[in-house]
Amino acid sequence: MKTIGFCSDHAGFELKEYLKEVLAARGFECKDFGTYSMDSCDYPDFAHPLAVAVEAGEVYPGIAICGTGNGISMTLNKHQGIRAALCWSVEIASLARAHNDANVLSMPGRFISNEEAVKIVDAFFETPYEGGRHQRRIDKIPVH
Ligand code: RB5
Repeated sequence: MKTIGFCSDHAGFELKEYLKEVLAARGFECKDFGTYSMDSCDYPDFAHPLAVAVEAGEVYPGIAICGTGNGISMTLNKHQGIRAALCWSVEIASLARAHNDANVLSMPGRFISNEEAVKIVDAFFETPYEGGRHQRRIDKIPVH
């Protein structure tokens, strides 16, 4: 695992800060692409830089949080090399890795607790990609 990249808007800020603390305490390197306060802001301003860094191999995986997780995921997934998976349960997070080889974990900061988020992160980090038939499907995702 390389440096973990983070981004959020104001609605995901508190959960982002919490997860950074938890993961840094476990010894992970963390790079934060913002936002850096609770002030109202626009999630694309932070999602695009994270996406570029994941595509460049500078950080992996990414963790992205907005209120619902939707806006930030929509933005990230505009980048051809990004597979951002919106996860609100452990099972979805685990399938996002096993079947989708997701490289960004997106979460809905306003709809999950800090404790749930840690369990989701753990499932995402611990589940390997299964490959096989899933690779054929993943190869068809990018728009050429
Ligand atoms: C911000 O109020 C909210 O719209 C944003 O965090 C996110 O949920 C958008 O998809």
